[in-house]
Amino acid sequence: MDRYLVFGHPVRHSKSPFIHTLFARQTQQELEYGLAEPAVDEFAQALRTFFDQGGKGCNVTVPFKEQAFTLVDRLSPRAKRAGAVNTIKLTDDGVLLGDNTDGAGLVADLKSHGVTLADSRILLLGAGGAARGALAPLLAELPSELVIANRTHAKAQQLAAEFCDLGHVTAQTYEQLAGPFDLVINSTSASLQGELPPLAPALIHTDIAIYDMMYGASDTAFVGWAKQQGARQTMDGLGMLVEQAAEAFTVWRGIRPGTKQVLRELKRNLGVI
Ligand code: ATR
Repeated sequence: MDRYLVFGHPVRHSKSPFIHTLFARQTQQELEYGLAEPAVDEFAQALRTFFDQGGKGCNVTVPFKEQAFTLVDRLSPRAKRAGAVNTIKLTDDGVLLGDNTDGAGLVADLKSHGVTLADSRILLLGAGGAARGALAPLLAELPSELVIANRTHAKAQQLAAEFCDLGHVTAQTYEQLAGPFDLVINSTSASLQGELPPLAPALIHTDIAIYDMMYGASDTAFVGWAKQQGARQTMDGLGMLVEQAAEAFTVWRGIRPGTKQVLRELKRNLGVI
């Protein structure tokens, strides 16, 4: 049977096996999908061993995405732009192809929630790996402006300079930000510690769309805060998780699974509904 897995550390709580097993059942693909948690300095060896032993493809998550970028034979254009690899496929001619489906997953999830990106003003919070992966797919939707704000301003400036060939991207400090924005995407890891990015409450209005790339069984700190400020449309990253997986599955198997039912099952599994 064709073998796939996700590399991460820690990875025990990953939902990827659950999601890909449902995709395989739905599309009647014969495959198994497991977990691998190599020590941080043993990822390269573990990756080599997996493919030497007949593995067909894998996902890569924290903290290995940047390392995976350096280990594959070839990079997709979107992985090159992202500077990170979350999906690897062994091609028929034996080449390890590195791809990145995170940004496509974000855009697909935003669209599935009915969020309009074309001609919109987007505020992206954070300038780490997650922000980098999101930028090209977001700019491909032709927003009128995309503003990056980050605690360490120099990193936002660096990202804006790197992606300015793809659209109207600027970097502003949290203090400089002036609304109205149509959509705020939180790519910071602040919610992981229950913290908030230092965003002025006045930037949140009832018609704004709020997206936190993090997720949990209950509202993330950012989603909870945005609701308190009156935002009516708030989304967390669970849908992005399913959509990036669907994109990876499509890369591997050449068949696109449906995501709605799988997202519902995942929410039930997590106790969200
Ligand atoms: P990831 O790969 O998930 O993006 P990362 O590369 O470590 O992780 O980036 C984390 C991002 O969250 C950074 O933009 C970080 O800001 P700094 O560049 O200033 O470190 C941001 N971040 C983390 N905790 C934060 C907090 N409490 N408030 C604001 N920003 C925070």
